[in-house]
Amino acid sequence: MISYDKAITDIIRIRRSWRSYRPDPLGHADKERIRAFLSGLDCPPFGSAVRLVLADAPAHGMGRVKGTYGVVTGASSFLIGVLRPSEGGFEDFGYLFEAAVLFVTSLGLGTCWMGGTFDRGFFADRASLAEGEIIPAISPVGIAADRRSMVDRLFVLAAGSRSRKPLTDLISRDGFDTPLAGGDLGPHALPLEMVRIAPSSSNRQPWRIVLKDGVMHFFLTRTLGYSLLFGEVDLQRVDMGIAMFHFEQTARELGMKGSWSVADPGISPLPSMTEYVVSWVP
Ligand SMILES: Cc1cc2nc3c(=O)[nH]c(=O)nc-3n(C[C@H](O)[C@H](O)[C@H](O)COP(=O)(O)O)c2cc1C
Repeated sequence: MISYDKAITDIIRIRRSWRSYRPDPLGHADKERIRAFLSGLDCPPFGSAVRLVLADAPAHGMGRVKGTYGVVTGASSFLIGVLRPSEGGFEDFGYLFEAAVLFVTSLGLGTCWMGGTFDRGFFADRASLAEGEIIPAISPVGIAADRRSMVDRLFVLAAGSRSRKPLTDLISRDGFDTPLAGGDLGPHALPLEMVRIAPSSSNRQPWRIVLKDGVMHFFLTRTLGYSLLFGEVDLQRVDMGIAMFHFEQTARELGMKGSWSVADPGISPLPSMTEYVVSWVP
């Protein structure tokens, strides 16, 4: 089991996407701790081959960091995520990369999931990408600047990053027609709240959860046209993996038992653009 030296709910609650950093390089001790965490990561739920690398960015002072299209300023280190695509690979990638993002957050450092605004060729060299591997996402790692840059503020505004959908839009009983609120969720209220406040690409929050016979079935409601934007990388499946990590880690810290399994409840018809992903069986 992955463990942190702070409560996972506290780490999830303080994490925000940061695109502006102080130029100070990451300390040697922090780098060592991050590398030790990465090398001790468990096998993800679907058993995919995911590799996470902490790499230095070229020197640039306070300026824009090469390879990020001017979106990131000041960061001197990057977390680069590498995947050998397979069934469940994008979910596994989201699960492990978020585990790392939250570890970095627990050290008081800033991060920002980036699945679109980076130059894949540039980071491929830094991660020594092998044949058959892809880079679904990267994240700057560093000390967040005191003020967000103009570009950073624009991203926060454009994605509506400060807000999230209410639980009743995401969770329902037996099918998709009976929404559930926090009070209806018993011991699962906190793990599900940690799903609700998770980061997602463009803050689309595509997770839908149906509670049926005590099992939590996770569905993905896709955003129209979104899958065409990122070619071979399915960022909304990555979002599902992030939600799985938040749910599982919170449930485990609360002492709840359960595991992931493919157990499609066969709900029909499904809402449009919606597909089944995985179930949490207590
Ligand atoms: C899979 C994924 C991909 C993302 N890609 C980008 C990106 O390419 N560029 C960017 O600036 N932010 C990116 N984000 C950050 C989201 O816009 C951000 O998480 C969301 O708006 C919520 O804001 P918060 O992280 O501050 O809570 C991505 C987030 C996720 C989870």
